[in-house]
Amino acid sequence: MDLKEILASVQTFEINSASDLESFRIQFLGAKGQIKDLYGELKSVPNEEKRAVGQQINELRQIAEDKFESFKISLAQVQHQSEKIDVSRPGADSMIGSHHPLSLVRKEIIEIFNRIGYVVSEGPEIEDDWHNFSALNFPPEHPARDMQDTFFVEKGEQEMALRTHTSSVQVRVMENSKPPIRTISPGRVFRNEAISARAHCFFHQIEGLYIDKNVSFADLKQTLLFFAKELFGEKATIRLRPSYFPFTEPSAEVDVSCTLCHGKGCNVCKYSGWLEILGCGMVDPNVLDACGIDSTVYSGFAFGMGVERIAQLKYRVTDLRLYSENDIRFLKQFTPGN
Ligand code: DAH
Repeated sequence: MDLKEILASVQTFEINSASDLESFRIQFLGAKGQIKDLYGELKSVPNEEKRAVGQQINELRQIAEDKFESFKISLAQVQHQSEKIDVSRPGADSMIGSHHPLSLVRKEIIEIFNRIGYVVSEGPEIEDDWHNFSALNFPPEHPARDMQDTFFVEKGEQEMALRTHTSSVQVRVMENSKPPIRTISPGRVFRNEAISARAHCFFHQIEGLYIDKNVSFADLKQTLLFFAKELFGEKATIRLRPSYFPFTEPSAEVDVSCTLCHGKGCNVCKYSGWLEILGCGMVDPNVLDACGIDSTVYSGFAFGMGVERIAQLKYRVTDLRLYSENDIRFLKQFTPGN
């Protein structure tokens, strides 16, 4: 093939893309390319011309290589520019998760009690009989044990229970610390109940305990009134109804004025104006003594509430099962700003 023709086609070859560049390389510079062929043809050139022709082929190869290199660089630059990051573009939205409503309520309740000096304590979910029942003044065979349907589990030789309430944690705190005690114990509890909109086999409670000299029922009432106002707003009021728990004497159940109608009566409070929120009472002297605290010197109060119940009142969730189904449509409603 004619050297001049090849030179002309090297010069006119259009390179607009990486694949054009590759075709160029194959056509002229590759192992089977036209320039390689020219070197092959050098054999048949008369000796006296070999040198001059060889030089021309070298020059042609240099021209082709230069063109190849310069297009390679400029194509790389074009590609780099098109990939450049535009810092002025708005960022892509990323999905953020949300706190579970029970976590939000638990956190809020803990913060309220933190402000009046209560510290968080925790205990195991698998409990022995002593901490879940006996130390809390439930004697063996006492019918009060049937107030809570218990799941029993074997742990080695020992029969254990999934704790039915977080009151077990107050026993552990009293056994391990000296008064004054101000503690709040959030945690999961278990009961052998059929799952429905109104009952579940596991749920969450927060237990409170205050032990010191001269703690009175009046202190209990004021603490709970403060709590209700912090949680439900300044207008909230409470009332106490006499009740029974083995570990407190006297015992009471506490209602808060209906958060929807503020006591006027509506279908949420079943036209009573009140909503039940917790159980409480003065810690029974038997419990203090069982836990190594001298009941002739110290007194105290305890209270326990269900986190689901409080969340239900705050967010009007009427089906308990929603809390553990992980339905994204439910959970999304608790994303901040929603
Ligand atoms: N442990 C009780 C329950 O699960 C709740 C409770 C009531 C806790 C009265 C207390 C209390 O500390 O004083 O139903």
